[in-house]
Amino acid sequence: MIKSLRGMNDILNEDYKRFTYFINIATNVAQRYGFHFIEIPLLEETALFKRSVGESSDIVGKEMYQFIDKGKNDVCLRPEGTAGVVRAFVQKKLDKAGGIHRFFYHGSMFRYERPQKGRLRQFHQFGVESFGVDSVYEDATMIMMVSDILKELGIGYKLQLNSLGDNNCMPTYRNKLVKFVKECEDDICDDCIKRLDTNPIRVLDCKNDKCQTLYATAPKLINNLCSSCENDFSKLKNILDNNEIKYEIDTNLVRGLDYYSKTAFEFISDNIGSQNAIAGGGRYDRLVEYLDGRPTPAIGFAIGIQRLMELIVMPETSRDGYYIGAMDEEAIDLVVSLAHKKRKTDKVVIDYKVKNFKNHIKNADKVNAKYFCIIGTNEIQSGNIIIKNLDNKIEKTIKQEEF
Ligand code: HAM
Repeated sequence: MIKSLRGMNDILNEDYKRFTYFINIATNVAQRYGFHFIEIPLLEETALFKRSVGESSDIVGKEMYQFIDKGKNDVCLRPEGTAGVVRAFVQKKLDKAGGIHRFFYHGSMFRYERPQKGRLRQFHQFGVESFGVDSVYEDATMIMMVSDILKELGIGYKLQLNSLGDNNCMPTYRNKLVKFVKECEDDICDDCIKRLDTNPIRVLDCKNDKCQTLYATAPKLINNLCSSCENDFSKLKNILDNNEIKYEIDTNLVRGLDYYSKTAFEFISDNIGSQNAIAGGGRYDRLVEYLDGRPTPAIGFAIGIQRLMELIVMPETSRDGYYIGAMDEEAIDLVVSLAHKKRKTDKVVIDYKVKNFKNHIKNADKVNAKYFCIIGTNEIQSGNIIIKNLDNKIEKTIKQEEF
C-alpha cells in the first residue's frame, strides 16, 4: 500500500470540521480588522526565501523542499507565507502606490523537519501581513487579533514578547553579545559556534541547556534598545495593559526567521507538548526593501493550524438538513429528484439503496440530519411526503410539489 509521506497528513471528517471551524473564525476576525484575502503560489524561486527568511536560519539552511524544475529554475515549496506575500506586494507595485495594505492567507507550508507531535513536514498556517503602518498601535492590533481568534475558539494562551531593536541599536547590541559569547566559546555547542559567524543573536534561543546556563548573564537586548525602540516597546506594553492582554517579556525570544526587527511575539500553549508555539510574528520593516521594493514598514503573524486543532473544542453541533431514503426500488428515482430540488436551498443526504425504516433512521442519525423523509410506493401513489423533525419528533405530511 502506498502511504502518505512522513510528516504529511490527510485532513478529513472530524479533523476537517475542526479545520474549517478554525478557518471560518479566523477569517471572520481578519475581515473585522479590515484584512483582505490573498492567494500566493506554493512554489517560489529559492532565492526569495534565502533573501528573506535568511541563509543562516534552520528553515533555509536545512529544511527546504528545494529542487531544480524542468526549466532549470532553482525553486522550493514555500516554508512560510510572509516572503511570498511581500514578493506579491512588490511585484504588484503596491509599495510604489503607497497607503496601507492588509492581507490574510491560509494554506500549506513545507519544512523538512524531524516529524513529531505538533511538528509536521506539511502543515497549515493562517497568516496576516500589514504594510504601510509604522505605528506601534498596529503591533498591538496584530496581538489583539491573535488574542481575539484564540478567545473565540476558547483557547487559553501565554503571550511572550520581545523587541529586537532596529538598525540603530541592533548592531551595537550584536557586538556586545558576540564579545560575551566569545569569552565562553570553548564551552558552547557547535551550533552556537556556527551562529557566531552567521547570525549571533540566534544563540539566545539555543535549546542546549549548557549554553542557556552560560548565556544567563549575557547582555539583554531590551536593556540595549535605542530611545525610539525603547519608547515603542513601552508604548506597546501600555496598549496591551490598557486592553487587558497579558504578556511576559522573554528577552531570549529572537524568532527563527531573520527578517524581524523591533516587536517580536509568540503565543504559547501549555497543553500541546514540547512544540508549544501556536502563533508567532513580529515587525519586519526592512524586508520590502530587501526584496527590491520601496522601504515600507510591515508587520504580521502566522498561526499553526494543526497545533491549534489539538486545542479546539468543537461546539455541540445541532442537527441540520434533510435525509431522504427509499423503501422500494421504484422510489429511488423520486428520492433523487426530490433531493435535487431541495438542494437548491438545503443540505440533503440520500441513500441510493433500498433500506428498511430502522436502517434509514440510523443513517439519518449518523449524518446528523434534522429532517427525515422516506419514500415508498405509498408516497409515489399519493404524491405526498412525510417529513419527520428528528429534534422534536413531530411529523408533517405535505404535497411533494410543496417540498
Ligand atoms: P513561524 O514561527 O515559523 O513564523 O511559524 C508560525 C507558526 O506555524 C508556529 O508558531 C507554529 O504554530 C506553526 N509551525 C511552524 N512550523 C511548524 C511545523 N513544522 N509543524 C506544524 N506547525 C508548525 C512564520 O512562519 C512567519 N512567517 C510568521 C509571520 C508572519 N511573521 C510575520 N508575518
